[in-house]
Amino acid sequence: MEIAAKSILKMGNPLLRETASLIEDPQSNEIRTLVDVMQVSMEAAGGVGLAAPQIGVPLRLIIFNVPGERLEKEDGVARSEIPQTILINPEIEYIGDDTALGWEGCLSVPGLRGLVPRHTHIRYRGLDLQGRLIERDAVGFHARVVQHEFDHLDGILYPERMDDLTNLVYESEIQAFTDDKCAPE
Ligand code: NI
Repeated sequence: MEIAAKSILKMGNPLLRETASLIEDPQSNEIRTLVDVMQVSMEAAGGVGLAAPQIGVPLRLIIFNVPGERLEKEDGVARSEIPQTILINPEIEYIGDDTALGWEGCLSVPGLRGLVPRHTHIRYRGLDLQGRLIERDAVGFHARVVQHEFDHLDGILYPERMDDLTNLVYESEIQAFTDDKCAPE
């Protein structure tokens, strides 16, 4: 049976503000089906990550997948891809206090990009569909993607993490915005 993509809820929808619940049985058929629907929906929308609440399901489940070229572009150094990852009941631990600003977009906030401060080094863990523990250290854009998706489970969208909303811009204006910021005085 072909799986249909679900539409992604947008900022303003109250379901995006809820705290999602822990998943009791990661190996259940319901969760497997949910992951399939999320994968199809994320691909259809062209994102690198998706959280279950974004399709209206209030459960602690995120998926992400970042190609090596994208990581390299974001971090400015060679990196291998983040493989397709399914993380059930994820937890994040910050390693050190360092944070950095970086551009983020969100399928629930279409058309916009913002410069968001995030921790640069984290350790995250969660379960896969077989109930096995996944534990990884992540830096740079990888760490950013996981923090962004994790926030969706607590009803937080990236603009709420920004400390300067003048850095919230339309995608089509990023070039002009960046040129202006970098222009010599
Ligand atoms: Ni998002």
